[in-house]
Amino acid sequence: MKKYDAIVIGGGVMGGSTAFQLSKKGYRTLVLEKDQLGGKASSAAAGMIGAQVELDSDSPMFQLARESRKQFPELAEEIKDLAGIDIGFRKNGMLKMAFTNEEREKFLKIIETQQQLGEQVDWLTPEEVINKEPLLSSSLKGAMYIEGDGQVSAPDFTMGLLKSAAALGTDLKEYCEVKGFLREGNRVIGVSTNEGNFYSHSVVVTAGAWTTQLIQESGLDLKGYPVKGESFSVITHKPLLTHTIFSSSCYIVPKTGGRLIIGATVKPHSFSRSVSVEGIAQLMEEAKFILPSIKETEWKKAWAGTRPQSLDGLPYLGEHPEWSHLFIANGHFRNGILLSPITGMIITDLIERKKTITDVEPFRIDRLFQQVK
Ligand code: FAD
Ligand code: GLY
Repeated sequence: MKKYDAIVIGGGVMGGSTAFQLSKKGYRTLVLEKDQLGGKASSAAAGMIGAQVELDSDSPMFQLARESRKQFPELAEEIKDLAGIDIGFRKNGMLKMAFTNEEREKFLKIIETQQQLGEQVDWLTPEEVINKEPLLSSSLKGAMYIEGDGQVSAPDFTMGLLKSAAALGTDLKEYCEVKGFLREGNRVIGVSTNEGNFYSHSVVVTAGAWTTQLIQESGLDLKGYPVKGESFSVITHKPLLTHTIFSSSCYIVPKTGGRLIIGATVKPHSFSRSVSVEGIAQLMEEAKFILPSIKETEWKKAWAGTRPQSLDGLPYLGEHPEWSHLFIANGHFRNGILLSPITGMIITDLIERKKTITDVEPFRIDRLFQQVK
């Protein structure tokens, strides 16, 4: 049987990014996906690259997010060249809306910290916000204006990474479910699946919200849990927005072709992919409050996806503490699209036993582990 340099479990954005980085280094890589490639959280995402809009500026994740955001322009070119896919990368900027005085005060502090860290970010008065986006509700207290955050099309980006990896020699296998790990002593040497065994030098688990369950046989409990998110989209016949609008209750992302994505609900501990009337009605009310003319748009569709969350909100990036050559990239929660470029680079550095591009100490996978045996 063919032996690979690396097997990547899960064909989402993390699996795609990891396989792409490995294949760029000449690693013979196999991606195993139990269903359809890119069919889970990674295609449910709105595609925001929201380093400054989503993350606390003083968190360890902020540095990771800033480094990851930097990679998108070059990645967009590489994917276009290798796979012929336009990932829809745009730096269209974001407005993080304050509707209360508390939010206003909080955002002013965030602006100060981000500016000290060298990031572009400004406070806009309500008049200045309406100047930029005339159709927004005027009942706001102002907004953070973040020019550097942008977006991609999440499904195109995910498939673009996977197909670019394939163009560089990676094998992609759908409907192949990993059931367990093959070992020689404490060294992982491959995986068992519904289609038999596959062997490799290293194994990377990028199985999204299913990761905790999959690695349980290794005796360690990651304590990751699923968080359901529902979204919907509409079509507009005249452009309503240029920037992405972000608030504490919902976001509205303008896409190409006059489409707006409105998201997303946050329901912890649910793997359900059904779309609830309650969830969509709640988002719709919030979107109408922020952008009243959304009432005039045409309904397109609604969907749900499962975010992988960790117990402390930070991703897990590293090698298994007891089983060597088994690597895990998981728990990226609301920011997996944003964090996928840096994640693929870090996992590749770890496999190559090199110093990682950024410090991964805060993301060690054994920081919260407890033995289940
Ligand atoms: P997934 O995309 O879920 O991929 C994991 C894959 O592993 C799946 O395809 C699964 O079938 C497969 N798998 C599982 N077990 C096995 C097995 N045993 N064998 C083989 N395959 C297996 N992030 C952003 O950065 N920006 C956003 O705007 C954004 N918006 C979002 C909106 C919504 C509604 C949701 C739900 C998420 C959003 N996210 C966003 C978060 C982002 O989508 C996730 O963090 C990211 O997609 C996780 O990627 P992943 O590859 O780890 O997981
Ligand atoms: N980052 C947006 C979401 O997860 O809904």
